Amino acid sequence: MKIFITLGILLFTTLNTYASKELKTHICQACHPKIYKEYQSSMHAKASIYKNEIFRAVWEKHPLSKTNNFKCAKCHTPSDKKLISGETKLSKNSIQLHEPISCQYCHQIKSIEEHAKSNTNIQITQKKTIFARNIDKKGQMLEFKPQSSLTKMVGSPYHDINYSNENYYNGNMCLGCHSHKQNDHGFKVCDFEIKKGKSDFKENCITCHMPQVSGSFVNHKDTKTHAFHGATALIDKPFLLSKHVKLSLEKGNKNFVITVKNGSNHTLTPHPLRLSKLKVSLQREDKIIELKDVIFIKVIGKDGKPTMPWIADEIITDKTIKAFEKRELKFNKELKSGDIVTVRFGYHIVNPQIAKKLQLKEKRLSKFITLTRKIFKIQD
Ligand code: HEC
Ligand code: HEC
Ligand code: HEC
Ligand code: HEC
Ligand code: HEC
Repeated sequence: MKIFITLGILLFTTLNTYASKELKTHICQACHPKIYKEYQSSMHAKASIYKNEIFRAVWEKHPLSKTNNFKCAKCHTPSDKKLISGETKLSKNSIQLHEPISCQYCHQIKSIEEHAKSNTNIQITQKKTIFARNIDKKGQMLEFKPQSSLTKMVGSPYHDINYSNENYYNGNMCLGCHSHKQNDHGFKVCDFEIKKGKSDFKENCITCHMPQVSGSFVNHKDTKTHAFHGATALIDKPFLLSKHVKLSLEKGNKNFVITVKNGSNHTLTPHPLRLSKLKVSLQREDKIIELKDVIFIKVIGKDGKPTMPWIADEIITDKTIKAFEKRELKFNKELKSGDIVTVRFGYHIVNPQIAKKLQLKEKRLSKFITLTRKIFKIQD
């Protein structure tokens, strides 16, 4: 009973605000509290310089920051509409602090326009309609139908739902921001190098990064699970992604080979700030021998030297693991029966050398984080 009264009050208050012409993120919270909570700890809710110290450190070094010309808003804070339209300059307002990429921004991406410099999101013009992915309802449009009981009502009293946008089924709705970005020299400073495959529908950006986790997606129904909204691949929950990078070991005569298999359709740690590594240690009787780390890095720069992204016009080295690649790494060490080999694949969110240059002192930003680990017991 109590829960129904609370829901009734919530519904009443939201219906009152229903009169507003646009959807508002803080109102989604009333009916989708679990998703709202996850979202708040995601990088999408923290994509502004006021919430992300790494981004702030880079922005403060960027030449555009001298004139406060925050072009980064296109992808980092598109919900600050006054800033986007040029009406205001970058300032610490509540959109920047709480919803730089808001719920409705993502749920109202109608299509993606492809450009060389960076892609562009085209928003739907019907301000109260959102897009969603639901295989059982694909192609439908769901409008609100009140019923005698809240748990039986159909649709949402706050928004209409359009289930027919293909971009929400194949993951393309992420690619307005997550595909590539060129600097003013026409050089791609960031490139996910996405490879489209036949299985895009089954496994894509959305299925891997927004897996179903426990808890209903909406108050009024008990759906058991909901799509994870805490997109923080690297910092918070790397284990959600571990299974997509597979490690195997093959013993040779005087050596052994470790294979890293990237199951994803993009380069691993494509961002030029990151550094991924393979760490191998060998336990033989009581001794632990650490083998030399293998690093997978992309260095960009000019005239053969590493530089900040806005100066770069060439790739100096690129050892990153590409989409669906199987990378074989040979170790010149003979393995013996009884050896235990521990293999870890992971990354530094900020390459420790770059962290120094950016004066990012907090350890958690540049320490090694394990994405996946496997232990091999060697037997003859
Ligand atoms: C007054 C309550 C209420 C508010 C406020 C609300 N929603 Fe909903 N929403 C619902 C209900 C109820 C459903 C389920 C409709 C159904 O399946 O019949 C739903 C469904 C959805 C779905 C589709 C789920 C699916 O896969 O079927 C999405 C996406 C969604 N809401 C997003 C949002 C966003 C974004 C906001 C804020 C801008 C928001 N909602 C605000 C009640 C609400
Ligand atoms: C085309 C869209 C786009 C534009 C424009 C853009 N970025 Fe980004 N940026 C992204 C995406 C997407 C990510 C997340 C990528 C990842 O984690 O691999 C990101 C991540 C970053 C990061 C890493 C943050 C972290 O937490 O590690 C920095 C730093 C950054 N961007 C700086 C900038 C600056 C400075 C500008 C403006 C001069 C800018 N970006 C403009 C899309 C963009
Ligand atoms: C409006 C642009 C935009 C859209 C659309 C968008 N993202 Fe992002 N995303 C960003 C930016 C910008 C960042 C980096 C924020 C930062 O670090 O400051 C980011 C960060 C992330 C991260 C965290 C990366 C890390 O370093 O931990 C993941 C994972 C992610 N996005 C996945 C997705 C997926 C999956 C989709 C589609 C469902 C999506 N994003 C849609 C802009 C966007
Ligand atoms: C980065 C883009 C992005 C942002 C930001 C975002 N969503 Fe979503 N949301 C999606 C995508 C894509 C799906 C489809 C996932 C699926 O069904 O597998 C989804 C699914 C949903 C669903 C249905 C969940 C389910 O399990 O079927 C609801 C409800 C929802 N979102 C509400 C919200 C609310 C509320 C917010 C803000 C607090 C929000 N979303 C922010 C992209 C986003
Ligand atoms: C098969 C699963 C899978 C698919 C499909 C997938 N990813 Fe990932 N993604 C991963 C794994 C595993 C990582 C962690 C390793 C890494 O950082 O690259 C990751 C990392 C990321 C990061 C953080 C990278 C960084 O360096 O900051 C972003 C952002 C991201 N993915 C976005 C996307 C987008 C956008 C798509 C759709 C084009 C996508 N992913 C498709 C598994 C997947």
